Amino acid sequence: EKGGFEHFMIKEIFEQTRSIKDCMRGRLDSQTGRLVLGGLREYVNKLVNADRIIIVACGTSWHAGLVAEYFFEEFCRIPVEVEYASEFRYRNPIIREGDVVIAISQSGETADTLAAIELAKSKGAIIFGVCNVVGSSIARTTHAGAYTHAGPEIGVASTKAFTAQLTVLNMIALIVANKKGTITEQKLHELLVEMENIPSKVEKALQLNEQIQVVAETFKDARNFLYLGRGYNFPVALEGALKLKEISYIHAEGYPAAEMKHGPIALIDEEMPVVFIATKDSSYEKIVSNIQEVKARKGRVISIVTEGDDLIPKMSEFTIEVPAVHEALMPMVSTIPLQLLSYHIAVMRGCNVDQPRNLAKSVTVE
Ligand code: M6R
Repeated sequence: EKGGFEHFMIKEIFEQTRSIKDCMRGRLDSQTGRLVLGGLREYVNKLVNADRIIIVACGTSWHAGLVAEYFFEEFCRIPVEVEYASEFRYRNPIIREGDVVIAISQSGETADTLAAIELAKSKGAIIFGVCNVVGSSIARTTHAGAYTHAGPEIGVASTKAFTAQLTVLNMIALIVANKKGTITEQKLHELLVEMENIPSKVEKALQLNEQIQVVAETFKDARNFLYLGRGYNFPVALEGALKLKEISYIHAEGYPAAEMKHGPIALIDEEMPVVFIATKDSSYEKIVSNIQEVKARKGRVISIVTEGDDLIPKMSEFTIEVPAVHEALMPMVSTIPLQLLSYHIAVMRGCNVDQPRNLAKSVTVE
């Protein structure tokens, strides 16, 4: 059942080339310009005309929501708020006419997300669901939605569900942007082509596996880790840190790199591994300065960069190169080495990667 892999988690990490492709199958075709999500059709105008989008989710799904916030705001020009379902539901949130809710959940059974949906529904909101499990509670209570079609995810650490969520959310945003006219034909075409190329870029990122084992071996006994990114890679930093802490029990924090100087920089010493997700994008120059700041304090820099970068490797103890991709789609690629890193560290520490202590696959308690 693990298809020759030692754990479900690593099997699922390696499945991503296929799961992302499955997620786009029949829905996206750059040649014909096809871009459809059947489950959206009836309510799509609600999204097109939305004054605001509220995304509710927990954990990794919440991180997917954060990436979507950047994507929707950039291409649809609709303000987005991303809420922890548990915070949203308990504070008498303001939901106005014109607000649309998107709930993201792999399992479709997360209690807090379900309760947040019920609450928003009772206030008259239209709810879209992005779920992986077909027929799950969340899939059934939402008005419309799209499945991620990643296939069953068994490992408690969410991996292929995350990249499939990003794929679906991007498709939703591009459909809306196209209908709203907030994206040019040319830009849309460019992004569709880029989306189609993601599976092969993920495939390339997976080939980093052996190289990442060397990094894992070097840092497996660390007591803390810091993950830093900016822009679209900021949620990737959060996700990298969550992945590490939940399966290896190493304390890890993810931060927007620019926030470092407002506190976390005090943690940096010669023992602190700092993972920079520093691919070539609009915040590249800025993150280079952040790397310098960490170096100046003797932090141990591990960088995820775009292939061919000749600057950051000189500043890093370890460099991991991922293929170039449009910055808005980079999270689907830059998250791969972080999944692999946490997996290998956890295995080297003798942890139960598929079923970490104190955690369940679906959190059906409040
Ligand atoms: O099934 P859901 O997507 O609603 O689950 C949300 C979180 O419980 C989940 O993403 C959790 O954070 C994962 N264990 C992270 O790897």
